[in-house]
Amino acid sequence: MASPPHSSSPNRPLSKIRFTISHNSSIFSLLVVLYLLPPLSSAHLYAGVEDTKGVKNDLFLEVLRDEAVARLNVLGKVSDADGYLERTYLSPASIIAGNIIRGWMEEAGLRTWVDQMGNVHGRVDGMNSSAKSLLIGSHLDTVIDAGIFDGALGIISALSALKVLNINGQLKNLKRPVEVIAFSDEEGVRFQSAFLGSAAIAGVLPVSALQIQDKSGVTVQNVLKENSIEISEESFFELKYDPESVWGYIELHIEQGPVLESVGLPLGVVKGIAGQTRLKVTVRGSQGHAGTVPMSMRQDPMAAAAELIVLLESICKHPEDFLSYDDQCKGFSVESLVCTVGEISCWPSASNVIPGEVTFTVDMRTIDDMGREAVIYELSNRMHQICDRRSVSCNIECKHDANAAACDTGLSSQLKSAAYSAMKRMAGEDVDDVPVLMSGAGHDAMAMAHLTKVGMLFVRCRGGVSHSPAEYVLDDDVWAAGLAILTFLETQM
Ligand SMILES: *[C@@H]1O[C@H](CO)[C@@H](O)[C@H](O)[C@H]1NC(C)=O
Ligand SMILES: [Zn+2]
Repeated sequence: MASPPHSSSPNRPLSKIRFTISHNSSIFSLLVVLYLLPPLSSAHLYAGVEDTKGVKNDLFLEVLRDEAVARLNVLGKVSDADGYLERTYLSPASIIAGNIIRGWMEEAGLRTWVDQMGNVHGRVDGMNSSAKSLLIGSHLDTVIDAGIFDGALGIISALSALKVLNINGQLKNLKRPVEVIAFSDEEGVRFQSAFLGSAAIAGVLPVSALQIQDKSGVTVQNVLKENSIEISEESFFELKYDPESVWGYIELHIEQGPVLESVGLPLGVVKGIAGQTRLKVTVRGSQGHAGTVPMSMRQDPMAAAAELIVLLESICKHPEDFLSYDDQCKGFSVESLVCTVGEISCWPSASNVIPGEVTFTVDMRTIDDMGREAVIYELSNRMHQICDRRSVSCNIECKHDANAAACDTGLSSQLKSAAYSAMKRMAGEDVDDVPVLMSGAGHDAMAMAHLTKVGMLFVRCRGGVSHSPAEYVLDDDVWAAGLAILTFLETQM
């Protein structure tokens, strides 16, 4: 267990840290905000809502909804930038955010520490401190100009649920240790390397990651040192958890997609996180004058790229029409296949010049790893055919390739029942079945799947919008999220 990096860091004068609460605010005004949050007594907690049959339900509205929403707003203001939310790996604001989370962990009855990658941990032993532990996590870092729910909701809903157990004196009834982890890096904004926090704990981060540099040439190791964390190769390897000591990992996260909103339900269970391939396609033709080269004599890489992109769209919409398969594989389809060309550039990029070279990216995701391979194979064959026909050259490079992470079926069905009973308790009547979704976005659970079985819940967000200040989750959906985690924890007693 490492000592907290931010307890006494001489390199971080508070005056350097800016908040978006107001231009001249300081740590003290932040603390004032924290103290202004309504105090909650256990008497309040039992003031549950009344359902139609007049039966009192204990739904802990004040902790699981009102206080959780207030906390999301508090954390949403802890930013390195003025006017928008930005908290990158071990930035001044992320250290503050970690300290605030640590305070909430302690209030929930957890013992806390910060590890050598800056992850914030809070743990309660329950009945048997040597039993395998349940880990619950999400990330405290954000993208640039982020929303306030991405990452934070998973941490806050877990802490709210544990706070309810703490107030009710039930923490000691947990049959295994429960540990909440606020991961220091998931988005990978600063070092262009995602999952620095969770991958270290899962033991899949190479020690060379310490030497990755940010834009200003500062390495991960430098940043840790600035925060009073001296990390050596040995202590780096000690970050890895022993798989024998862990029972499983769960994570609650906003969906970042539109499915739950379209079915009208606050919660869904995730069956797996999509695998992903990123390609860079370079098409070279013959650069020329836009006015003088006849159409029949052109080798235009731009028109070729357009055809390649349309081909990609067709294959990804209807893979069954393109994949050649033998008799055994009849009906083979690639589940939830999505493909995107998000970046394109050309040389020399002038309105009166036939380009000499066009480069574009392909981002392909599906939960079906074999399907992804088959689609990539078919795609590159057909792309080369198109390029040959058009007499342009075409080079396809694989820049990133990661297999899907499947969620554990047992853990998923427990999370599904917890989500169902939370929705039912809130509605006071039977509700629709909890949808089962695929995650197209990466999550810490993807890294943690290398360590232990994982399960995930998704929470509805407005319009499916994320990585934007427009990201929004209804207060009652925050409540449903906390209640689902609480219900899940009740199965661990
Ligand atoms: C506590 O957990 C350990 C490890 O699973 C087990 O061997 C031991 O029997 C448990 N103790 C009790 C009192 O249940
Ligand atoms: Zn996230």
